[in-house]
Amino acid sequence: MPRFNRLLITGAAGNLGRVLRKGLAPLATTIRLTDRGDMGEAAANEEIMVCELGDFDGIMKVVEGCDAVVHFGAAPVERPWEEILDSSIKGGYNVYEAARRHGIKRVVYASSIHAVGYVRREEGADTHTGHRPDSLYGVSKCFVEDLAKMYFHKFGIESALLRINSCFPEPADRRHLATWMSFEDLVQLVERCLVAERIGHTVVYGISDNREAFFSNHKAVHLGYRPKDSAEDYREKVEAKTEPGDPSAAAVEYVGGVFCEYGHPDDGA
Ligand SMILES: NC(=O)c1ccc[n+]([C@@H]2O[C@H](COP(=O)([O-])OP(=O)(O)OC[C@H]3O[C@@H](n4cnc5c(N)ncnc54)[C@H](O)[C@@H]3O)[C@@H](O)[C@H]2O)c1
Repeated sequence: MPRFNRLLITGAAGNLGRVLRKGLAPLATTIRLTDRGDMGEAAANEEIMVCELGDFDGIMKVVEGCDAVVHFGAAPVERPWEEILDSSIKGGYNVYEAARRHGIKRVVYASSIHAVGYVRREEGADTHTGHRPDSLYGVSKCFVEDLAKMYFHKFGIESALLRINSCFPEPADRRHLATWMSFEDLVQLVERCLVAERIGHTVVYGISDNREAFFSNHKAVHLGYRPKDSAEDYREKVEAKTEPGDPSAAAVEYVGGVFCEYGHPDDGA
């Protein structure tokens, strides 16, 4: 029995959006998909709406009639300021404000490890660790996490803020041995955030059950997320093809990795 009548996924043409499109299908009678990019043909249980996240009137139409929002559309890495501002900051605001006006009560948001990228590996962090963004991209994730907090306390919209680490088919480098999240674990985490009885405003790290994980989710156990995969299964393969990094390099020192070594994205533009 589907839990929702209509579930909205933003960023549906993206790598993770495509995984969620398939993985969340059993949860809703209708899955509404939105993106600025090509989402292909709609299946029988799907509705497709092409829209720019920065277009408030468009997002109002996209959000109308939905029961919950899975917000994954955004500039997905460090990008020029104007793009971060339009797609991620304005886009995040538009989604939350449209959710409020249409009476939606729950949002699952794709935040990022880069909201806390300047945490040192050996410090460790949990879901109450404060923001330490390592990029304008990270700042946009901090903005939406705080926006979600305001919409929860003032308007009662519950949110899960998923500080996703590295969600790819398999770990590609040594840092990923700590940060990897499998697609199956992503689907499970988003589903738990949608169906858990109460989530309030919950930050949770999007990681699989990795031995060297930088982060602890012990304050988010109420979600019932139990990752099934582990980067350990790929250790031998990863170590065979990559050298250990320099422990004093910023990319190794901080959990944000190479983002901590980037300059300003608009320099030289
Ligand atoms: N893949 C990861 O490991 C990872 C890690 C941390 C956070 N995230 C977050 O998860 C989300 C999805 O990431 P992804 O890896 O699937 O990236 P992706 O680039 O494949 O998907 C992002 C989608 O958002 C859409 N989009 C961007 N700007 C838009 C705009 N202005 N209007 C409409 N659509 C727009 C793009 O067209 C794209 O399809 C992003 O918010 C990203 O920051 C991903």
